[in-house]
Amino acid sequence: MKAALFTAPGQPLSLEEVEIADPGPSEVRIRITAAGVCHSDLRVLAGEWGATPPVVLGHEGAGVVDAVGSQVNHLAPGDHVVLSWTPSCGTCRYCVSGRPQLCQVAVATAYNNVMPDGTTRVRLGDQAVYSYLSVGSFAQYAVVPAQGAIKIDEKIDPGVAALVGCAVTTGVGAAINTHAAMPGESVLVLGSGGVGLSVTMGATLQSPSMLIAVDVSQDKLDLAREMGATHTIDARETDVVEAVHDLTHGRGVDVAYEAIGRASSVETAYDALAPGGTAVVVGQVATGERVSIDPMRMSGRELTLTGSNYGSARPSVDFPRILAMYERGLLPLDLLIGDRVGLADLDAAFASMAAGTTSGRVVVDFP
Ligand SMILES: NC(=O)c1ccc[n+]([C@@H]2O[C@H](COP(=O)([O-])OP(=O)(O)OC[C@H]3O[C@@H](n4cnc5c(N)ncnc54)[C@H](O)[C@@H]3O)[C@@H](O)[C@H]2O)c1
Ligand SMILES: [Zn+2]
Ligand SMILES: [Zn+2]
Repeated sequence: MKAALFTAPGQPLSLEEVEIADPGPSEVRIRITAAGVCHSDLRVLAGEWGATPPVVLGHEGAGVVDAVGSQVNHLAPGDHVVLSWTPSCGTCRYCVSGRPQLCQVAVATAYNNVMPDGTTRVRLGDQAVYSYLSVGSFAQYAVVPAQGAIKIDEKIDPGVAALVGCAVTTGVGAAINTHAAMPGESVLVLGSGGVGLSVTMGATLQSPSMLIAVDVSQDKLDLAREMGATHTIDARETDVVEAVHDLTHGRGVDVAYEAIGRASSVETAYDALAPGGTAVVVGQVATGERVSIDPMRMSGRELTLTGSNYGSARPSVDFPRILAMYERGLLPLDLLIGDRVGLADLDAAFASMAAGTTSGRVVVDFP
């Protein structure tokens, strides 16, 4: 099969013919139908997060089950699925307590780009190839842990389904699972990329009094308005904290989500809070970045700074839940999709993401 491999930081992806294994007893092989391009893939490509090459990049993916392992009962060939990049083991303390997004097995294995048994399912000649977040969706096929493939309705457009695998669940989940605004509260969303726009869609479901979207691209701010933002701030033109105070009569916002992945924007989210407010860190910074906050304000104003991994989602509950809201017209996920490209166009897609010139999420289609 064809796969786009990360081989070294700063290098273009390498499009290779590789071998994909049969699924092990509790695994499934998926024929990928669509994949999305997330900033987290770019972090690896740019060398801002370490990963041992070669890696099939891509962790936002949808597809059709091609083969199932001998112990898999809940999926069958032909099922349409969305892939989860935190395949939960189902038995660790986090899985059992309803927080599979923190699964200890997934953190120790999928987050190191290997299967739960520590090995890989893709080969290039006699070399083992890792699969990013145990998904590796920039390839025609992927073998994944069976818990990492969530069955969905076959009517869903594969492009939309793929985005549910990361950006949508991360963003919508942050706004409805990790920390939901109360109806009538004010909300700030920093960053209007795939994740930030998804936060905006999720926060809109909570009926905020005001939803302020921030970006450095007018196209993205226009999209944010279409998805529910009531106000926008262009961070190139004005100081964001001052602009938020102007819009909120000096009070600040009740809830702020950081969806850019910059330490200074985490500080902006925190500094823009009203007394009693909560800042949610969704964006993921380059390894080693730190933030500086005023702990006196934190105690005196009872501020909360919290984090959100994968939208605090339970994929088998939240993927179908999000898609049901999409089908009812409550989440305009189609608006998220930008260019639809092929595997060979990925370098251009990443270059435009790095330059901030993409409009909408780039989706890779597999004809
Ligand atoms: N917490 C999680 O589970 C999780 C999951 C997926 C992605 N992420 C992270 O979320 C972040 C966003 O991912 P994405 O795929 O949406 O990226 P993206 O590149 O599509 O979007 C980032 C947006 O931020 C904007 N931006 C850049 N600099 C800015 C600034 N100074 N002020 C305002 N806006 C600015 C860009 O124009 C862009 O629209 C990344 O850090 C990614 O790693 C986190
Ligand atoms: Zn992602
Ligand atoms: Zn677990």
